[in-house]
Amino acid sequence: MSGKYDSVETGFATRAIHHGYDPLDHEGALAPPVHMTSTFVFDSAETGGDIFAGERAGHAYSRISNPTLDLLERRMACLEGAEAGLATASGIGAITASLWTLVGPGDEIIADETLYGCTFSFLHHGLERFGVTITHCDLGDPEALAAAIGPQTKLVYFETPANPNMRLVDIRAVSGIARAHGALTMVDNTYATPVLTRPLEHGADLVVHSATKYLGGHGDLVGGIVLGEAETIERIRLYGLKDMTGAVMAPMTAMLVLRGLKTLELRMNRHCASAMTVARALEAHASVARVLYPGLDSFPQGGLARRQMKSSTGASFGGMIALELHGGMAAGQALIDGLSMIHCAVSLGDAETLIQHPASMTHSPYTPEERMRHGISDGLVRLSIGLEAPEDIVADLTRSLPSTPAPTGLRPAMRV
Ligand SMILES: Cc1ncc(COP(=O)(O)O)c(C=O)c1O
Repeated sequence: MSGKYDSVETGFATRAIHHGYDPLDHEGALAPPVHMTSTFVFDSAETGGDIFAGERAGHAYSRISNPTLDLLERRMACLEGAEAGLATASGIGAITASLWTLVGPGDEIIADETLYGCTFSFLHHGLERFGVTITHCDLGDPEALAAAIGPQTKLVYFETPANPNMRLVDIRAVSGIARAHGALTMVDNTYATPVLTRPLEHGADLVVHSATKYLGGHGDLVGGIVLGEAETIERIRLYGLKDMTGAVMAPMTAMLVLRGLKTLELRMNRHCASAMTVARALEAHASVARVLYPGLDSFPQGGLARRQMKSSTGASFGGMIALELHGGMAAGQALIDGLSMIHCAVSLGDAETLIQHPASMTHSPYTPEERMRHGISDGLVRLSIGLEAPEDIVADLTRSLPSTPAPTGLRPAMRV
C-alpha cells in the first residue's frame, strides 16, 4: 500500500489522514478496508515457507501481522518519525512485548520514579521475578541517571509527562546519557502524543503508547503500539508479540485507532486549550492547594515543558491535570462525588472529562509505602480534560469545590 502524502515534509494532520493509503488501490474505498481474517492463503507451499522464513513479503497469520494493522503501524511510524511500529492489544501489551524482548536475566532497567501503576507492577512483579534488576531514579535530574547507570543497564524507561503527577523528563539529556553507556531509551508518550512531543526526534530509541487514550480518543477501544528502528520492532514482533504475549490488536480496533488519528491534532489542540483554562481556574480557587499543569507559571519544570511540548500552534501542554486540595484525600473524594457532568472513571484522552483518584485506582498496584517513595500522594486527584465547552468543565468543578478550604492543616505531599 502506498499513499500520495507519505513525505514527512507534509503537515502532521495531512499525514494522520492520508499516510500509507491510496483509495484507488482499494476499489475507491475512502475508509481503509478492515481485514477480518485470522489466516492468509498462500499460492503455493514454497510461498508459505518463504513468508515464514522472512524471505518474501506477505502476511501469514494475524498474530504476526495483518494489513489493517500494517497501515496503522506505518501511519503511526510516520507521525512519530520512526522506521516501524507494532500494534498490540493494549498499552501494557506493547510494554510487556517490548521488554520481554529487550532485556533478560542479569540486565538492569533504570526507570523513572513515577510510572503508571500496571507498568510499575510489570517491572517489579513480572521482570524482577525473572532476574531483571529494576532500579528507580529521579530522571527529572539527568545527573541522577549519570550516577546510577552502569554496564549492566540495558534500558532506561520513563513517561513524560508522568502519570499521575505530571513530572517531566528531559528526553534529550537522558537519552544522551543512556546512549553513551550503550543503553536503550524507551519513552511512554501516552500523555503528550506525537502532536506535542516526538521522543525519537529528541534521541530516544523506542516510543510506546496506550492507544486506548488520545490516539483512539473516544473511549471505545483498548490498544497499544510500540515504535522504533525496523530491526528492533521486528524482533519484538517475532518474539515478544508472537511467542511471549500473543497480545495482538484486533483488525477492528486498528480501524478505530486509524479513525481516531484523523482528528488527533484537532482534538489535542482543544484538549490543551481547555486544560489551560481549567488549570488556571483551579489554581485561583481557595480550596485548591496545588495544581500541577506544565503550562502554569507555577509548574516547577516550566522551561523544559516549553522546550519539549509543542504543537504546530506553539507551546502546548496536554490535557492532563493533577491537583491536590486543602483537606487531602477526603476533600478529593468529596470533589469527585459532587460532580455532575464530569465522570469518575479511569482512562484518559477521551471526549468526556474524567476524574479519578490514583492512589485507590490507577496506581493501586503500588503499596502505600511505594506510593509515598514515588511521589504519588493519597490526596492527589487526576483530571483528563475532555472536549466539552471549557466553561462547563470549570463550572462543574467550581460547583463541587467547597468555597473555603477544609480545615486540616495538611500540607500537599506531591512533588515533582
Ligand atoms: C501512561 C500509561 N501507559 C500505559 C498504560 C497502559 O495502557 P492500556 O490500559 O492500554 O494497557 C496506561 C493506562 O492507563 C497509561 O496511562
